[in-house]
Amino acid sequence: MKLIRLAVVGASGLVGQTTLEVLQEWQIPLAALRLFASSNSVGRDMEFAGHRIPLEPLDQVPKEADAAIFCTSREVSKLWVPRFRDAGITVIDHSSQYRQDPDVPLVIPEINSHTLVNHKHLISNPNCSASIVLLPLAAIDRAVGLHRIIVDTYQSVSGSGLDAVAELESQLANPGLQPQVYPKQIAHNVFPQVGPFDSSGLCDEERKVVDEIRKILERPQLLVYTTTVRVPVRVGHSAAVTVETARATNRQELEIALLKMPGMVYEREGYRTPREIAGKQEIFVSRLRGEEEGTWFQFWAVGDNLRKGAASNAIQILMELFK
Ligand SMILES: NC(=O)c1ccc[n+]([C@@H]2O[C@H](COP(=O)([O-])OP(=O)(O)OC[C@H]3O[C@@H](n4cnc5c(N)ncnc54)[C@H](OP(=O)(O)O)[C@@H]3O)[C@@H](O)[C@H]2O)c1
Repeated sequence: MKLIRLAVVGASGLVGQTTLEVLQEWQIPLAALRLFASSNSVGRDMEFAGHRIPLEPLDQVPKEADAAIFCTSREVSKLWVPRFRDAGITVIDHSSQYRQDPDVPLVIPEINSHTLVNHKHLISNPNCSASIVLLPLAAIDRAVGLHRIIVDTYQSVSGSGLDAVAELESQLANPGLQPQVYPKQIAHNVFPQVGPFDSSGLCDEERKVVDEIRKILERPQLLVYTTTVRVPVRVGHSAAVTVETARATNRQELEIALLKMPGMVYEREGYRTPREIAGKQEIFVSRLRGEEEGTWFQFWAVGDNLRKGAASNAIQILMELFK
């Protein structure tokens, strides 16, 4: 792999911190590393490979960088990603700002790294819930075709960033505290809303799951139904998935497809929970069940939203780009 001069924007947030962990664990060859955050973080630094690296305010585009990973909100990405691209820096963006732009590849490397070929210095990293279910869905789609998908998610608070984790922890210590980040109390509770609702009744996350599954599988007409639920878990998103396949099949044929899919672990016995997979790179799939010979099947999928759902998927993309 080539030596990269890398900028991480939003390095102090949850995805940014996990990005720094994965860069070190995977020993990505870096010629330089610059870290950016908001002006609130000026004066702070972060540890990387035994060095302290200052957090710089994002007030200009770094002169010498090959690539940047944006771990920031839509608003920050909207303002700053075009400026980085104009300076010839290849950007991998974690926000949803560019994911549905037809000129921007939305990539899970095990599924659609071929779409990187024509990138125009910008690649979007998918939403963390879509990422958790897409590897098994792609495996089934390749083997027998998908006709219809029903996805119900159970999403951890780290999916909403540092402030949401703090809100869960402070409500667990003091259940009377009023919510600031979420629409309802999250401690000892669940609610079927991840982001604001649109006029059709879908919340923001449900719209992203539908649109991103269709874009990554290159199946714009695929029938996708989803309910996204926030749960009081710190790290790890889970999903109960029901699929209707395009042709009749059986559990054995689907198991072979799932076992062959890179990036995921299919388990015939037992099941995993978010607590058991936090910090792991793979998606874990279990409880495959359905008709003896037919078209309806169900499974359970769980993965670390900060790893495969965000940081490590983006670093896989970086590795593809600079190999
Ligand atoms: N969390 C997940 O599981 C996950 C998964 C997939 C995608 N994403 C997406 O990834 C992005 C980051 O999420 P997160 O969970 O890491 O959020 P977070 O913990 O709230 O971190 C946000 C980061 O953005 C920085 N920031 C805020 N305003 C800025 C500005 N004006 N200029 C430069 N940096 C600024 C913050 O810096 P300060 O510390 O200085 O405020 C912080 O480093 C979001 O778009 C999110 O939707 C998140």
